[in-house]
Amino acid sequence: MSIRNIRELGDEILRKKSKEVREMTPRLQTLVEDMLETMYESYGVGLAAPQVGVLKRLVVIDVDDGQGPIVMINPEILETSGSQTGEEGCLSVPGKHAQVTRPDYVKAKALDINMEPFEIEGTGLLARCILHECDHLDGIMYVDKAEGPILNNEEE
Ligand code: NI
Repeated sequence: MSIRNIRELGDEILRKKSKEVREMTPRLQTLVEDMLETMYESYGVGLAAPQVGVLKRLVVIDVDDGQGPIVMINPEILETSGSQTGEEGCLSVPGKHAQVTRPDYVKAKALDINMEPFEIEGTGLLARCILHECDHLDGIMYVDKAEGPILNNEEE
């Protein structure tokens, strides 16, 4: 496994639409392992493949809720409801955060690392994270949705 370089806001790859994953390959398995390692090393709760320069519909998430890392391949949002407003950041916008309003509940489907379909439901941080990471696959960054200024993390 190795740490991948995280692309930062301004890098045009972050604004591109990622392509569907058609089959699991050793190369993609390594990508998933590297993305997890990169996310943990940066204390992130999620990472999408375009953030490490790969335009594939693949995200990893771990909101530290005890269920371990979630790998979502070709994720699709099926349902959302409610609303939550809270602080959001992104490893591609280091050291910054802003207020973002998103649904408070999400139901999504995806393929796992074995390309087996599964569904996932989340509320609160998990819902926010799934939506944030799925946005990356369509070139959308949280700063597009921020309410008010993008703040430095030391400012409160
Ligand atoms: Ni992000």
